[in-house]
Amino acid sequence: MSRCVRYGVVALGLVMGLAISTGAWAQTPWAAPDAEKGKKNPVAAGKKAVEQGEKVAKVNCASCHGAKGKGDGAAAAALNPKPADWTSKKMQDETDGSLFWKISTGRGAMPPWKHLPENDRWALVHYLRSLKGK
Ligand code: HEC
Repeated sequence: MSRCVRYGVVALGLVMGLAISTGAWAQTPWAAPDAEKGKKNPVAAGKKAVEQGEKVAKVNCASCHGAKGKGDGAAAAALNPKPADWTSKKMQDETDGSLFWKISTGRGAMPPWKHLPENDRWALVHYLRSLKGK
């Protein structure tokens, strides 16, 4: 391998590392698989479910998504892409199944929450819905 080619390989590695660390590759649209999108929320809607979800969110999500879900938590400044604004039309347009899947699976700086009981994750979806237009 010539010296020139070797430097080229190193440079390419650096560029790719930078793209990953700045999150440039995570900017592509994030879509749940079709089979997940159609899933219905098995937890009955209502005040109880919203309160359950809010409690889980305060403990696990507020550091990034903010106390009111605006995506402005203490840790948000350092993140790119930014944590989603739960009140936004873009997020509210997602189906329940899609939100549940994204919460469970995570992506990049958004951690997967599969370890939370399913019931809590569906309650989170009810809580996120309660923030629509706020
Ligand atoms: C460490 C920071 C962090 C924590 C903690 C966190 N998130 Fe996120 N979240 C993110 C980031 C960053 C994104 C954007 C990811 C992307 O677009 O690639 C995101 C995206 C999302 C989305 C996708 C919204 C959309 O537009 O499709 C949902 C839903 C979500 N988070 C819910 C939650 C819930 C619920 C919790 C708590 C159980 C949580 N997040 C905890 C950082 C975080």
